[in-house]
Amino acid sequence: MAILDKHKILETNATLLLVCSFLVVTIGGLVQIAPLFWLENTIEDVEGMRPYTPLEMAGREIYIREGCYVCHSQMIRPMRDEVERYGHYSLAAESKYDHPFQWGSKRTGPDLARVGGRYSDEWHVDHLRDPQAVVPESVMPKYGFLENKVIDGKYMGDLMAANAIVGVPYTDEMIANAQADFRAQADPDSDYDGLLERYGEDITVRNFDGKPQVTEMDAMVAYLQMLGTLVDFETFTPDASR
Ligand code: HEC
Repeated sequence: MAILDKHKILETNATLLLVCSFLVVTIGGLVQIAPLFWLENTIEDVEGMRPYTPLEMAGREIYIREGCYVCHSQMIRPMRDEVERYGHYSLAAESKYDHPFQWGSKRTGPDLARVGGRYSDEWHVDHLRDPQAVVPESVMPKYGFLENKVIDGKYMGDLMAANAIVGVPYTDEMIANAQADFRAQADPDSDYDGLLERYGEDITVRNFDGKPQVTEMDAMVAYLQMLGTLVDFETFTPDASR
């Protein structure tokens, strides 16, 4: 056939083949990506989303440092088996303050996008200390050292300022009070009114690991207990155009 003969021109000319391949990939890419800029549900704001508190942010940093994302995803796909196991599928807005996002690409352990509130703080501490003591067949490493590492939140203001540059709505006041808010969230006896005023009434203030100092364990558990709890799915109604 004539068209197959013409194909030979492409296959014997490396430059032409490269140019044409590039064209095909460009068109394919545009078809896939461009509609996302106009679909309402990929860019809609969702009630309840707020920037992470300094303590949660510190926990997130430790989560990234320890490579938890290597075994855990934070992205529930809109499929029935996923939704029945983990809860409402993840919304784009739920990771809009994540730099970098923690969707992950592999699940050796379960998805953690909605793990917040599912277990007690004590459960998390016991589990992180020795996962096999809680789930005997677990292959998760032990992270008990987190509770021995006291942290002071000194650099949280800097980190929040950096996040503000890329669009996370941290105010100057939040940044200025980062260290105080960091300590307040882990100490229910402190004066944490400022923290609630800045981040919202339903911020969880607890001594997450039960120890007097603020440790990496406090930060980690504060972060885990917040995951997936910001959007209230009892009242959430998807955008009409969905
Ligand atoms: C080598 C892979 C691996 C790594 C790394 C890992 N985990 Fe896990 N994780 C698992 C597995 C497997 C399970 C399921 C068994 C269990 O509960 O221990 C699990 C379970 C969990 C659970 C309970 C989830 C649920 O819904 O029951 C939490 C919370 C958790 N991991 C947090 C973390 C955190 C935080 C880190 C990083 C500090 C981490 N994991 C690192 C493999 C891993």
